[in-house]
Amino acid sequence: PEELTQLLDSHVREVPDFPEPGVLFRDITPLLADGPAFAALVDALAERYRGKVDAVAGLESRGFILAAPLAHALGVGMITIRKAGRLPGPVTGVDYTLEYGTARLELRPETVTADQRVLIIDDVLATGGTARAAIELIEGAGARVAGLTMLLELDELRGREQLTDYPLDSILRY
Ligand code: PRP
Ligand code: HPA
Repeated sequence: PEELTQLLDSHVREVPDFPEPGVLFRDITPLLADGPAFAALVDALAERYRGKVDAVAGLESRGFILAAPLAHALGVGMITIRKAGRLPGPVTGVDYTLEYGTARLELRPETVTADQRVLIIDDVLATGGTARAAIELIEGAGARVAGLTMLLELDELRGREQLTDYPLDSILRY
């Protein structure tokens, strides 16, 4: 609803030229630091997904901040999809492209079960490369991607076009 969007938007800070010149960075740290705003966000997500998913997968690192309270509120487990080299094996990995360079995400396939309905959550959808890699990892482990949810979607980077086969919700769009 409009009220929630306004509350959350009022706690997102615009930072010009971060992390480099020409980038307008949307900083969610004020939102996280505000008790009522953070609670309203988690409550709204929990209401939206209650009974519809069997696990919540968070993308390191800012996705973890949202995935953990949401999984708890839904009474389901949290799956950690991490940057390369951080999870003890066995792991599966997917390389993906960033705006500059490449990176690798990893999953312990033992943390998902076959046919589980997994909700992928992250703080920001930019080019969509990170989200795509997460989908590949979850599906590669035999589970199903029930949907993706992003606190913030940066429209001009067109990440949504990479994710057309999946239900994608974003709370705030810029
Ligand atoms: C940011 C953000 C998303 C990703 C989105 O993560 O948290 O995970 O970029 O970009 P994309 O849609 O272009 O792939 P970052 O790699 O900065 O990691 P962090 O959460 O650890 O700060
Ligand atoms: N804000 C936060 N995270 C990001 C952004 C942004 O504008 N772009 C890519 N990751």
